[in-house]
Amino acid sequence: MSKEPLKIGVIGAGSISDLHLQSYQQLEDAKLIAVCDKNEARAQAKSEKYGIANVYTDYHELLANPEVDAVSVCTWNNTHAEIAIAALRAGKHVLVEKPLCKTVEDAERIGQTVRETGRTLQVGFVRRYDANAQLVKRFIEGGELGNIYYAKASILRRLGNPGGWFADIERSGGGPLIDIGVHVIDLCWYLMGRPKPVAVSGNTYRQLGNRANVRGLSFYKAADYDASFNTVEDMANALIRFENGASLYVDVSFTLHAKQDETAVRLYGDKGGVEVEPALELVTEKYDTILNATPQVDHRSINVGEAFRNEVAHFVECCRTGATPISPVEDGISLMRILCGIYESAAAGKEIRL
Ligand SMILES: NC(=O)c1ccc[n+]([C@@H]2O[C@H](COP(=O)([O-])OP(=O)(O)OC[C@H]3O[C@@H](n4cnc5c(N)ncnc54)[C@H](O)[C@@H]3O)[C@@H](O)[C@H]2O)c1
Repeated sequence: MSKEPLKIGVIGAGSISDLHLQSYQQLEDAKLIAVCDKNEARAQAKSEKYGIANVYTDYHELLANPEVDAVSVCTWNNTHAEIAIAALRAGKHVLVEKPLCKTVEDAERIGQTVRETGRTLQVGFVRRYDANAQLVKRFIEGGELGNIYYAKASILRRLGNPGGWFADIERSGGGPLIDIGVHVIDLCWYLMGRPKPVAVSGNTYRQLGNRANVRGLSFYKAADYDASFNTVEDMANALIRFENGASLYVDVSFTLHAKQDETAVRLYGDKGGVEVEPALELVTEKYDTILNATPQVDHRSINVGEAFRNEVAHFVECCRTGATPISPVEDGISLMRILCGIYESAAAGKEIRL
């Protein structure tokens, strides 16, 4: 295997790009050589912060640089498909942020291009790469939970519509479901062993708007935040049914009259249960007694920085060895089927068979 570091370009130099850039910077076998953002000042700032030689405002020019081996795509959701496909066609490996794209058709086009080009594509399902998710995966594969027949996931923000492109359905594809729901639906589905989804029944609500009027609480805002613009749902819930009879219930919000923010990821099997969030805990029964077991680990909730470092290190490893990533394009496509099915179900007011 070549000792040359993998040469990396990052496309999209906004908020999340920092976690990609920092992670690549810490790897000995990767070297950041290019950064691109249509906002030149943003690309320039990252180039200076991370010492990146080549700065672009047009991603086609970055992809035309033969030195670049692999790219991270950290742009708005509506650009993921065109950039990922162009990158693969230019011979680059691709780490694309979640969600894979906006539609099932685009997801399938990306899948087809991965197969045609033979390049590596990893979807940025970062929660899979957290140490606790991998710990739970080992317990599940060892049979500790038995047959998992129910899972339940929530990310409820009482106030947290980031605005900007996140609030523009044309650029984002939707609100909390596609932005944060994707993370916990994916994590549950992955830990359940990726059963085939067969039906979804969803509801989306636009009851509260973005609540830009609320005072006294701060929240993350996109760079181009505009309080007057919001075309996405503020809350969604869904029941996802799988071929093996298992089901997953999810509810997510950008805003809700909830007492506090809440993140929960829980899976239940016939031998035991697990709470991945808000704090790692295993539940089982032994000698007619229910046991709640607390794994002794540094972080009982996701360690975001470490999860990104693991994700990026795994991507570089897969590019170098040709191994299939643990979050391959096929899983990105399956998630798009689930997410788009939920939006379709909500619009139609009935269950959708997938
Ligand atoms: N994994 C996670 O936990 C996580 C967290 C936040 C965001 N994300 C994802 O990362 C992506 C970016 O989100 P963000 O929060 O960094 O948004 P952001 O608005 O902060 O940054 C996006 C950047 O992309 C640039 N851009 C858009 N289209 C472009 C194009 N065609 N060419 C070049 N640059 C372009 C914009 O100018 C902007 O600077 C989204 O897909 C989002 O869903 C993932």
